Amino acid sequence: MKQFISVNDVNNINSLVAKALAYKANPFADKHLGAGKRIGLLFLNPSLRTRLSTQVAASNLGMEAIVFNVDKEGWALEFEEGAIMSGNTVEHIKDAAPILGKYFDVLAIRTFPSLKNKEDDYSELYIHQFIKYAGVPVVSLESATLHPLQSLTDIITIQEDRKLLTINDRPKIVLTWAPHVKPLPQCVANSFSQWINTWKEADFVITHPQDYELDERFTKGAIIMHNQDEALKNADYVYVKNWSTFNDYGKVYENDPSWMLTNEKLQITNNAKVMHCLPVRRNVELSDEILDSANSLVTQQASNRVWAAQAVLSEILASSNFFKGGA
Ligand code: CP
Repeated sequence: MKQFISVNDVNNINSLVAKALAYKANPFADKHLGAGKRIGLLFLNPSLRTRLSTQVAASNLGMEAIVFNVDKEGWALEFEEGAIMSGNTVEHIKDAAPILGKYFDVLAIRTFPSLKNKEDDYSELYIHQFIKYAGVPVVSLESATLHPLQSLTDIITIQEDRKLLTINDRPKIVLTWAPHVKPLPQCVANSFSQWINTWKEADFVITHPQDYELDERFTKGAIIMHNQDEALKNADYVYVKNWSTFNDYGKVYENDPSWMLTNEKLQITNNAKVMHCLPVRRNVELSDEILDSANSLVTQQASNRVWAAQAVLSEILASSNFFKGGA
């Protein structure tokens, strides 16, 4: 694996999931694979799970991980080619990324969308500029439109749970929109849709209010329904997530509380397990009664972030020759 920015960088999802679950059973199986290698974790936005799980994963592989909160501690970066830097940006990515590529063997980067300009966000300029200029493998810790480490974790968690319940048939997975007080990115929903559609091992339904359509490039293959109760019928897994509007970009049209998942709604399902990437706004996005119930997989899901990151870093370490020129 040369980079990890979407499901398109993965040859075989099930093999990667199996690798992650093998690491969960034996975290230090490859404790020398990353010896003498260093990963830079660059954050342009806050994080709890992604930051810490990737640090733990790197440590399990014997890598050194250094975190840099670029947004708080670094110079303001410019990403546009040919920019006249007379505004607030101080350092061009063309100058910063090659230096980072000398300091680190792998760079992992979290960016976020502006939610103001769809074309800019969906061009994924930030992560593509890092890839172009860093000269080392790049791992997405969430980009403007996708969150692949989260989606890999989600499939790991579903597979782990299916084995426990011995669900052999195709599970029915429902991604449902949920209310939220702020406009949120579409990343998690886009990425989950892209991975489940590529995986092809589930019946996949997406449900959301009118006008909350996601980008068809990610949802194509899923059944899309605007009636949440209809969508939830016989679901085995319900993935709860808010996202802001895609077409009229980055808006919150309504916050209809009736879209929040409750125990009453769960009765419609096949006693579904409930997933959420976290952080979650309790009793806005998802109810206490669900989050604190035996149906909730959220803690298991978040803990699996370590094994997803470890499987990805292991693939990158194994396939990179890591020849680095002089500083
Ligand atoms: N789910 C997730 O990416 O969590 P963090 O934002 O805390 O990293």
